Amino acid sequence: MKSSSRLSKSVRPIDLNHIGILYDDEREALRFYRDLLGFTMTDYASVPRAMFMRLNNEHHSLSLFPREGGQDAGIWLGEHEAWEMETYEHLLFSLELLSKKKIEPVLMGRRMPGSNYTIYFRDSEGNLIELAYGLETVGWNGKPKPFQLWAELERIGTLPSKITADSLETDELMKKFDGKKLTWTASELAKSNGKKYDASREIGRIPFKISRLSYYSISCKNIATMASFYSSFLGLDVKYKSKTRVALAAPGGNYPDLVLELNAKGSNSLSKICFEMRSYSELVDCSEFLKRAGVEIEFEGYRHTGDAIEEFCIDFEDPSGNQLRFSFSPKLRGLKVQSKIPDRRLALKPAFA
Ligand SMILES: [Fe+2]
Repeated sequence: MKSSSRLSKSVRPIDLNHIGILYDDEREALRFYRDLLGFTMTDYASVPRAMFMRLNNEHHSLSLFPREGGQDAGIWLGEHEAWEMETYEHLLFSLELLSKKKIEPVLMGRRMPGSNYTIYFRDSEGNLIELAYGLETVGWNGKPKPFQLWAELERIGTLPSKITADSLETDELMKKFDGKKLTWTASELAKSNGKKYDASREIGRIPFKISRLSYYSISCKNIATMASFYSSFLGLDVKYKSKTRVALAAPGGNYPDLVLELNAKGSNSLSKICFEMRSYSELVDCSEFLKRAGVEIEFEGYRHTGDAIEEFCIDFEDPSGNQLRFSFSPKLRGLKVQSKIPDRRLALKPAFA
């Protein structure tokens, strides 16, 4: 019987999964994302270097690669945007769609750390997209798979015809390593720099917690071609469209996962990553906390630009110049802005009309 994916002419991921960014200085990046923004370090690859950080129990929401030398080995691909596939069948089917469109995958296989089955390819302007299935979840003890299992699981260059359930596979492998000392790279890193990791951040010195990766923006040279690529080929729903901005969501999603922005003179690139906070008051706390820590807030207030995105937000950049937005969107949660007015407000613009 044919699956529903075989009736589709587009890739149709189910959600935005994670973003890969570049950093200039490793210590700065670690301090910023882990110590200041509260991301939890999951894994750390030493050769070639890469850091994997999470917001919840998924192995990583953010992967970080050194700008210099990080791509020498050819398997870390640097800046990329990863979309989650519903089943392994959907991932395999997307290979057929790529072939029909004559798009050569940049890489496929199974990645470690993270255990995800994956295909990388480039959009019509060269941005790197990853389709991922089966990203590992991190258990109650906060530990990902031990380092010794990576080589057993990683496959680069091909996708297997069948896969085994993650739990079964891990149980089998752990038997093989029974009695041997296993190491977890993030824990090793903690030992080497003397820091302990707080997996929960619920009771910590950081007065907020990021809820999830919300959406990202990219600058486009030709917005019509890019909009067609992401809607017709990737299968995203268009939530808003103008000559200069197009907002798209994973099929069935009610809030954008991707915003395309026309920048005819500039270069195509990732222009902003937006993370959603748990509550409005935590967004306000976050703004104050970051200012005290010396982070320059470029904008804070309410944005309702008519492009399907309505949010309270703060904009700032990381030490490597990546543009970040932290938001609280009443619309995303089905709330009305006027329903409750909090006591404290974001500073630059009135938060509530
Ligand atoms: Fe990735």
